[in-house]
Amino acid sequence: MEIARSLQNVPSSYIREILSAASDPKVISLAGGLPDPSTFPIELMRPTFEGLCDTPEVFQYGTTAGYTPLLAFLRDYLRLPESHAAVVCTGSQQGLDLVARAYINPGDKVAMEAPSYLGAMQVFGLVGANMITVSQVESGPDLLQLEQCFKTEKPKMFYAVPDFHNPTGVCWTLETRRKVAELCIQYDVAFIEDAPYRELRFSGEALPLVSSFCPEHSIVFRSFSKIASPGLRIGVVTGKAAYIEPIVKIKQGADLHSSIPMQAALLGLLKHQDFDAHLDKVKALYQSRYQTLYTALESHIPKSCAVKPVDGGMFVWVNIPECDTFELAKVLLSKGVAVVPSPVFYPDANGQPAALRLNFTNSSPEELVKAVKIFSEVIENFS
Ligand SMILES: Cc1ncc(COP(=O)(O)O)c(C=O)c1O
Repeated sequence: MEIARSLQNVPSSYIREILSAASDPKVISLAGGLPDPSTFPIELMRPTFEGLCDTPEVFQYGTTAGYTPLLAFLRDYLRLPESHAAVVCTGSQQGLDLVARAYINPGDKVAMEAPSYLGAMQVFGLVGANMITVSQVESGPDLLQLEQCFKTEKPKMFYAVPDFHNPTGVCWTLETRRKVAELCIQYDVAFIEDAPYRELRFSGEALPLVSSFCPEHSIVFRSFSKIASPGLRIGVVTGKAAYIEPIVKIKQGADLHSSIPMQAALLGLLKHQDFDAHLDKVKALYQSRYQTLYTALESHIPKSCAVKPVDGGMFVWVNIPECDTFELAKVLLSKGVAVVPSPVFYPDANGQPAALRLNFTNSSPEELVKAVKIFSEVIENFS
């Protein structure tokens, strides 16, 4: 049977391939975006999981928008305005898919930063979106380019990860947040704010969501994968009710609703008196891993490379001299280190600077230092 045209142009995911090679226990993997499993708050969820056996109602079909007690809790927890609604999704990845299917016709323009999140590019590619990129600088998107893009290309939406971007780790400044919101209102572009790393800030001051400056022009995705566990597969999409209604309709066709027992487990966790202490522990662990990686990079990488500090999240981005980054990643893998080469993060990688994404959350300090030494030696001798 011939596969659908929408799928014919989607290349097999490089990430999936490299992740399977990286699962070899002899490989130090800085390739994935995996949380450290020691952070999974299993003990905090144990009472709720045990209690589920006494609440048979959670094993019945539920409502598409989500488990009602969780939705009620999230309304307060996320301080949603009265006019806004929420839909619980099977990971924020499903939220992205639903938004793309609810709003994008083939050829519709979606603006995004370059580089950008691979999973978003896949989703937008599947619905035939025309992806237009705007360069990312240290403060966020290049604002002059963004305004030009809004003016001339008139995209329907601007998708972005303002907090600890995947893959670069960049966190938008307050000024950029305000300006992007202003431009979205001025040019009537919906702002799609993907915030899975927002709670993983380990230094610097927390900044408001971009959507808090344009609440009627935005949709926000949150994820519980990085602060609870990715296996729960729970994310939540919020925005004004008129934006959320079509998303609920598509979700009904996709899977009726996300798992109710898992939503109940998440609710128990979020209400647990030790949840904040759990978050503090996760952030402290990732901060120390990051510091180990960053210090090792500063002392070992060749002068021709450049790495910028980050204030949170899971990744650092290392600019390297122009080369075949796929070949470099292969050589590194053969020496026991997995990384992700920069071209996979661009809809069109032609002319983009060479870089590698390194994850620091799921390797021990010893592995991080060893990986950096191998990495630096290989780059020094690679041309
Ligand atoms: C930017 C971004 N958005 C969304 C997701 C998907 O997260 P979830 O596990 O909530 O589906 C990821 C996962 O790594 C991500 O990096």
